[in-house]
Amino acid sequence: MNTKTFKPIGVFDSGYGGLTVLQEITKLLPSYDFIYLGDNARAPYGTRSFSTVYNYTLESVKKLFELGCHLVILACNTASAKALRSIQQKDLPKIAPNKRVLGVIRPSVEAIDYYTKTKNIGVLGTSGTVRSNSYYLEIKKLFPEITVYQEACPMWVPLVENNEHNNDGADYFVEKNINNLLKNNKSIDTIILGCTHYPLLINKIKKYCPDNISIISQGRIVANSLVDYLKRHHEIDTNCTKQSIIKFYTTESTKLFKKRAQLFCDKILEVNHIDLGLS
Ligand code: DGL
Repeated sequence: MNTKTFKPIGVFDSGYGGLTVLQEITKLLPSYDFIYLGDNARAPYGTRSFSTVYNYTLESVKKLFELGCHLVILACNTASAKALRSIQQKDLPKIAPNKRVLGVIRPSVEAIDYYTKTKNIGVLGTSGTVRSNSYYLEIKKLFPEITVYQEACPMWVPLVENNEHNNDGADYFVEKNINNLLKNNKSIDTIILGCTHYPLLINKIKKYCPDNISIISQGRIVANSLVDYLKRHHEIDTNCTKQSIIKFYTTESTKLFKKRAQLFCDKILEVNHIDLGLS
């Protein structure tokens, strides 16, 4: 099949985490075509500098455009925090003015007011996402009455990427980070999982959070927001083919990706290897 007849929606993450978003998107848009790209060889992004995350993300977006995508979702908070704005404002007008790149932070922030009653919320994210202050700034713009507390969890993505997230060792880090977050304010009633890897740790997160706290995963929120976006942007929707084809690409071993990715998403069939950063 050539790229003229295959115009998938691109879903990108540094590794496996974005599959938690893809899983939800495909439930709401089962007839659409998708390409998932995981830059597993260079994950995690969370501790990398702004310029590195920007360069890696831009390379991935360009590759997804080459593969036929007209719309790319950065299903990665770190990339959304550190690269999205520059790509939208600086790069897209030059390289692909008719194509679009969307992130996961804005839709998550738009949804937050619905959940919090006390107007005290917590954000758990990678060091990069927390340091960028993106959640704080976006929430302040939309809901100035909400107070935001953030906690960086630098060990959580490596735990998930290395398949250690269900083991006892993970409890130590999850408990420590949740306690650090909650000791900021006893009335935090909502926590955003501001990293697409974190839904894999949900059982341990729930174990260390009081029951009255709402824990918000992004998958469904981002999926709803995409459905709404496609309704409002007919010119983009007509450039998305609908044959229910999903292809997977990784910058690492395809065998490993296939084995590990099944933990995140039940749609994994064919996985292809792709090189980034070599041109
Ligand atoms: N899933 C990415 C996110 O949402 C993880 C980033 C990383 O690779 O550290 O931030």
